[in-house]
Amino acid sequence: MRPTNWIDYDPSFIRQRYNDIASFFPFFELLFLLPPGIRRKAVRRLQLRPGDSVLEIGCGTGRNLPFLREAVGPQGHIFGVDVSEGMLSKARQLCTKRKWKNVTLIHSDASSYTVPNAVSGVIFSLSYATMPHHKEVLLHAWKQLQVGGNLVIMDAKLPPGIRGRLLLPYSVWIMKRTVLGNPFIQPWKELAELSEQFKIEELLFGSYYICTGRKPLATVP
Ligand SMILES: C[S@@+](CC[C@H](N)C(=O)[O-])C[C@H]1O[C@@H](n2cnc3c(N)ncnc32)[C@H](O)[C@@H]1O
Repeated sequence: MRPTNWIDYDPSFIRQRYNDIASFFPFFELLFLLPPGIRRKAVRRLQLRPGDSVLEIGCGTGRNLPFLREAVGPQGHIFGVDVSEGMLSKARQLCTKRKWKNVTLIHSDASSYTVPNAVSGVIFSLSYATMPHHKEVLLHAWKQLQVGGNLVIMDAKLPPGIRGRLLLPYSVWIMKRTVLGNPFIQPWKELAELSEQFKIEELLFGSYYICTGRKPLATVP
């Protein structure tokens, strides 16, 4: 195993990979030591209120939907977009089981889906690093966010210093074989550039983060 540069995968390859792993997706939370409570925490950073609308980009099997639904309540609305129909079918099963009527799930590349009206919050949860065109997707998502709304990115990252450098070859190796998250990118810098108020919080010794950016009144894009 040795570090290599990341190869940006084709969207059809990403879609197929997620279709293949959809049935055992929760297993990856254990494999990658997803910190307990991180999803609830990430959703809390959106500062949503009952009746709000929210967009999850790369919503997958819907693991965040219970927290998003709790935040916006039955009067609010949740939009979830995902490129993998296999992942989305699990999310649909969850909505049916819980009888949620205010969740709209869309099968699309996130760069080409636009919500009907600007939303109160946008979240990328474990999805940003899987998108080769992440900057384009971020700018598109930013345009769909209401002024004063929060955009949250939650994901894994390499821990700082020597531990990160030692982990890099393993990280590249395992990512290519599983969830296709590019360990070389630094999404928090991309969000900080757009935001008025920006915060980042690290978890599990710097191997996970939640970053939040608020959309300012006067915004460039
Ligand atoms: C690691 S999963 C995370 C799923 C979910 N957000 C969660 O926290 O459990 C990444 C998701 O991003 C989706 N994805 C990757 N590229 C995408 C794109 N260009 N447009 C929409 N969804 C995409 C994948 O299909 C997958 O469901």
